Amino acid sequence: MTSPVRIVHISDAHITTRPQFIPRDYNTIIETMKHIPHDFCIFTGDLTQDGLRQDYDLANDLRTQIPSEKIYWIIGNHDSKNGGSDVWEETVGPREFFEVTDDILLVGLDSCVPDRDEGRFGREALDYAKKILSKYSEDRIKIVAFHHHLLPIAKTGRERSNAVDAGDMLSLLLDYGVDAVFTGHKHHPNVSKVEDTIIISAGTMSSYKTRSGGPRTFNYVEITPKEDVKVQIRDIKGSMLLQEVKTITRRFRMVNSAGGVWLRIAQISGTDIGTVWKPNETLLEKGLELVKFTNPNLIVHCGNLTSKGRTTDYEKAVKIIKELNSDYVLCPGPNDLKGYGETLLNKYFDFDRIIEKENSDFYIVNTSSPETEKGVVGRTTLNRLMRHVFSERAKEAGKFHTAIMHHHIIPIPLTRETSALEDAGDVLKAITEAGVNLVLSGHLGRTFCTRVEKTIFVNCNTLSSQFTASLENSFNLIDISTDGAIVVSEIHVPSGFRNITGIFPGIQTV
Ligand SMILES: [Fe+2]
Ligand SMILES: [Fe+2]
Repeated sequence: MTSPVRIVHISDAHITTRPQFIPRDYNTIIETMKHIPHDFCIFTGDLTQDGLRQDYDLANDLRTQIPSEKIYWIIGNHDSKNGGSDVWEETVGPREFFEVTDDILLVGLDSCVPDRDEGRFGREALDYAKKILSKYSEDRIKIVAFHHHLLPIAKTGRERSNAVDAGDMLSLLLDYGVDAVFTGHKHHPNVSKVEDTIIISAGTMSSYKTRSGGPRTFNYVEITPKEDVKVQIRDIKGSMLLQEVKTITRRFRMVNSAGGVWLRIAQISGTDIGTVWKPNETLLEKGLELVKFTNPNLIVHCGNLTSKGRTTDYEKAVKIIKELNSDYVLCPGPNDLKGYGETLLNKYFDFDRIIEKENSDFYIVNTSSPETEKGVVGRTTLNRLMRHVFSERAKEAGKFHTAIMHHHIIPIPLTRETSALEDAGDVLKAITEAGVNLVLSGHLGRTFCTRVEKTIFVNCNTLSSQFTASLENSFNLIDISTDGAIVVSEIHVPSGFRNITGIFPGIQTV
């Protein structure tokens, strides 16, 4: 098959007799679709406003007007309100399904929890998707569709109502090399590339609610196997607002590094050094011994150096860091800022700064505050950081830019998304567009790495905190070669066992 598969992607109709539904715009999109040749249509949820019988009666009437030969229907959180998922199954179709043709495999999933805005796939849906993907993947375009957004989306306000197990879904999609993921929910169009998987979100077609004053939209998508995914975001009359073309060159390409290791970073987090509330002292001692043994050029601490940010905690921590006898940078976590912590931190560390080393810049971004586990970068800091990256890029091409923060931006498998970065969508967009090479974080106690566009994101487990979401505490070793290739390894404490968690080819070879 060489010709592309053509898809119209619509979402979030929010049909009701009340003013939340804009019938005029719905009808305009239907008319526009009549003039767009396409192979099939994907609707990614929120067909109705409130999942009520009368909403479904009207929606089931209106949806017959969509001029597509084939439509795949995905349930949304609004369709699941008021027991609406029963009416969905009775009148629209199954909540989970798959279809296999000669050209495509399409898996449709229910990401909704009845009467809640946030989502959850759950173990059964994840296992279902895994079973189908492993059985039918070969030589077909692999598509997965569900309602909730998978990556944070810029210009949609505070990051919320995503799926709590988004990290597990992301890891599954990457493991099976899914080509395209279709989502809705945020009422704002967006296209991202995670490794070689393209994540496509549609705006709303006919809800009164749009984000950042944007228009109602739909997507026209062309997928050419093993080549690229072309996404056009179009207004309701069909005019193109934005086109994104993302290559799908296929994954699992090994590093063919021409040069040796240029920079070795030991990335640690959650040492929780304290005098009253203490870490596991044995793990702390062994962990730091292992860090020293790996002989890094730089130790990057991604937060929670201390357990409670007390004077005695900092005094002990500073003594321990001195003994490491290595270049060291600290980005604070919420524990470090508790009580009088922020003042003490400023006494011992100059954390609000940019460090230059070996043709590389490290930007320390404080995302933490003492009163909450949640994180935020803030618009002022983000603008300042991005301005600096741009000016450095203009001065000196080829400089390697690393941002260091405590909170993660990309969902992490086997954790729950309960304390994410509030402005994650805007931060992700700014960082990937600015061409930041590496983002290091250390929240939620689990190692994970992936690449979004050209930026590599690495999250770190805790080194010696009593809290870890992994079997053992660990830290990461990040080797950056002279041609920009990056290998991320996790070093387990106390065993010293090393496993490679990510291999990313150099930027110029992607
Ligand atoms: Fe919606
Ligand atoms: Fe929704």
